[in-house]
Amino acid sequence: MLAAYKIRESGGHDRSMSFVAVKGGTVIASVRMTRVAAGAGRAMMLGPLAVRPAFKNLGIGRRLVAIALEAATKAGAPAVMLVGDEPYYGPLGFKRFPRGQIAMPRPVDLDRLLHHEIKPGAVARFVGEVCHADTARLPEQLPAMA
Ligand SMILES: CC(C)(COP(=O)(O)OP(=O)(O)OC[C@H]1O[C@@H](n2cnc3c(N)ncnc32)[C@H](O)[C@@H]1OP(=O)(O)O)[C@@H](O)C(=O)NCCC(=O)NCCS
Repeated sequence: MLAAYKIRESGGHDRSMSFVAVKGGTVIASVRMTRVAAGAGRAMMLGPLAVRPAFKNLGIGRRLVAIALEAATKAGAPAVMLVGDEPYYGPLGFKRFPRGQIAMPRPVDLDRLLHHEIKPGAVARFVGEVCHADTARLPEQLPAMA
C-alpha cells in the first residue's frame, strides 16, 4: 500500500480544501487534502491529484494545485506537503524536505517528499513520522510525568 494512502485511511480528507473539476456533469479531475502531523508540526497533505487521461496537459492539474494551496492559505494551514514528482510540483512552489527530516509509514522515495511552506517556521517543526492529524498525540494527551 502506498504511504500516502496508509495515512489517508486513518481519517478522512478535508472536504473544505478538496476540489473537483467538472465538465458536462462529469468529474474530470480532482485533488484532495488531508490534515497531517509530524512531531510538533501540522500540515495539509495534498493528494491524490488526478486528471482523466483525455483531459491531461491542459493545465487542469496545475490549476487544481493552485486552488488547493489558496484554500490552505485562507484556512490558516501552516504548510502543505505531498509525495510526488519534483519536476511537476517544483514549479508549483514545492521543495524537497531535507533527507531524514520526515518519514512515512511505508517506504517512499525520499526525493518525492515535498513541501510548500505557508507560515514561516512551519516546515522546521514538521519532523518525524507523518500521520493523520486525527491520530496524532498532542502534548497535553501524553501521560503526566509523576
Ligand atoms: C500528474 C497529473 C495530475 C498532471 O495533470 P495535468 O492536468 O495533465 O497537468 P498540467 O496540464 O497541469 O501540466 C502538464 C505539464 O506537466 C508535465 N507533467 C505531467 N506529469 C509530470 C510528471 N510526473 N513529472 C514532470 N512533469 C509532468 C507535462 O509534461 C506538462 O508539461 P508542459 O506544460 O511542459 O507540456 C496527471 O497527469 C495525472 O492525473 N497523472 C496520474 C496521477 C498522478 O501521477 N498524480 C500525481 C501524484 S499525486
